[in-house]
Amino acid sequence: MAEYSASPEGEKFTIPQDSEYAAEFKRIESLVEAARAENKEIVVVMGVGFVGAVMAAIIADTVDKKSGKPSKFVIGCQRPSTRSYWKIPLLNQGVSPVKAEDPEVQPMIARCVLEKKTLIATYNNDCLKLADCVVVDVQCDYTKNDLGNMRTGRAEMAALEATIKTIGEKIRSNCLTLIETTVAPGTTEFVAWPIMKKAFAVRGIKTEPLLAHSFERVMPGRHYVSSIRDFWRVCSGCNKEARDRVEKFLREVLNTEQYSLTVMDRPIESETTKIVENSYRAAILAYLNEWSLFAERNGVDLIKVIKAIKVRPTHSNIIFPGPGIGGYCLPKDGGLGYWAYRHILGFDDDIFKITPTAIDINDTRGLHAAKLTRDALRNMGRQIAGAKVLLCGASYRQDVGDTRYSGSEIVVRKLTEMGAEMQVHDPYVEHWYELERQDTYPVPGHSLARFFRNQDELVNTRVQHDIAAALAGAEAMILAVPHEPYLQLEPDKIVEWTGAPLAVIDCFGILDDEKIRRYFELGCEVKGLGRGHIQRIKEEVRKNR
Ligand SMILES: NC(=O)c1ccc[n+]([C@@H]2O[C@H](COP(=O)([O-])OP(=O)(O)OC[C@H]3O[C@@H](n4cnc5c(N)ncnc54)[C@H](O)[C@@H]3O)[C@@H](O)[C@H]2O)c1
Repeated sequence: MAEYSASPEGEKFTIPQDSEYAAEFKRIESLVEAARAENKEIVVVMGVGFVGAVMAAIIADTVDKKSGKPSKFVIGCQRPSTRSYWKIPLLNQGVSPVKAEDPEVQPMIARCVLEKKTLIATYNNDCLKLADCVVVDVQCDYTKNDLGNMRTGRAEMAALEATIKTIGEKIRSNCLTLIETTVAPGTTEFVAWPIMKKAFAVRGIKTEPLLAHSFERVMPGRHYVSSIRDFWRVCSGCNKEARDRVEKFLREVLNTEQYSLTVMDRPIESETTKIVENSYRAAILAYLNEWSLFAERNGVDLIKVIKAIKVRPTHSNIIFPGPGIGGYCLPKDGGLGYWAYRHILGFDDDIFKITPTAIDINDTRGLHAAKLTRDALRNMGRQIAGAKVLLCGASYRQDVGDTRYSGSEIVVRKLTEMGAEMQVHDPYVEHWYELERQDTYPVPGHSLARFFRNQDELVNTRVQHDIAAALAGAEAMILAVPHEPYLQLEPDKIVEWTGAPLAVIDCFGILDDEKIRRYFELGCEVKGLGRGHIQRIKEEVRKNR
């Protein structure tokens, strides 16, 4: 029976049969022949996910700096799994498989596929045999086994190892392989290179595989393309030739004239750069959690404290943490480093204190937002069980639709466990797959649902886009993400839409003092992460009544 792979929009694509592979290879071979006749370099991008799809288009958009003509022919290669195959036919139609707020993504992919004809996609990894350069963008996740204890987790290396093995079995001896995946430090030299060397030895190839590493710093949002192309890069190679080749390649495809390229001696150094920069970010965010609690319990508004500190140029990157730190990278990257120290590099002592603690704090900060919601309702003489609660903001940061590991998910799950009737609004998110498809997304058994009870009903969550309608009858509203439209919300309108005073929980310093005061005047209750001064405003309003 034919198997299908469905796109997030529900379009179904039949997964190719074994008998179709030969014809698919012939198709690619003839396109490659034509591209070679035009002196184009053949680049295969393995994994056309969030990063790979856009990186493939950026490479395909490259022109020779002298002639101005396209200089690369790119083949995006993807496993034909039920989960991911749909990305191939979509890309071949010139449609981006990733939904991005950046208006540059879709036209660039359409241009490269349909006009310049420098980008195709395939499921047949025999295309590797034709490559001059392979860019690896498959995922390397870090799975946590407990909520709030990243030390018991593990790196998921299988997809990356399988990809590297296939590459070693198929590429030509002088093909450059560039790992862009964020990996556990040591992976390129001590895991991937040996796998490739072994594959080369079996094939009787005497030369060393040309293997390099250069991590992505891509930021989802309105500047997606630019955050790959016009951004500072770091790279390295396993030997001198690989190092020289990766430097040349990156100088051709990225804007290294304006954004410098740092070449490091060894891949473990570029791998460590990525892990340290993200662990640093995770740590400075986690660090404010304890001061946020301090502020709540001692009448201090941490938002004003941060503003006052930021005035000093040396401290301008201090950031308020919100209800948790999401996105694909910050929750996992420190874990990859922690895991590598033991399992790739072979140490058994415990040098890591701050990195694991930071991740554990960030992963559980949402629980506190749930408690504040409970407390706010209690202060109004109500209970969380059975209360209709509207969460405003499902994504992990403001003004993007990316919900991966968002702090909001923990808030919803905890409140659901406590019996609340959760509703969700987000102007940028169409579907919250972490809830709607929690049994299978991101993969079966990996949903955060496993850490909470009574989660089954969350598959029925539908993200709402009309805030007035969503608020009707709500007993509490959690402002979880500072999306632009939420900054404008007026207390009088909110109470008009709900039909009665409600509890308002501000997780991100969204409300100014005037709005907090107005909510109290309207009979509402207000609580906020890190906002101890709210109590003072409440007492002032009561006194003046
Ligand atoms: N998304 C971000 O915001 C971001 C930012 C910086 C760095 N990164 C890093 O970039 C890397 C890729 O992340 P992503 O967000 O693109 O992940 P993703 O899950 O969206 O994409 C990975 C793709 O690889 C495919 N794949 C898996 N195994 C394969 C195989 N054997 N052969 C071919 N394809 C295979 C998957 O099906 C998927 O389409 C990760 O290491 C990530 O940490 C991501």
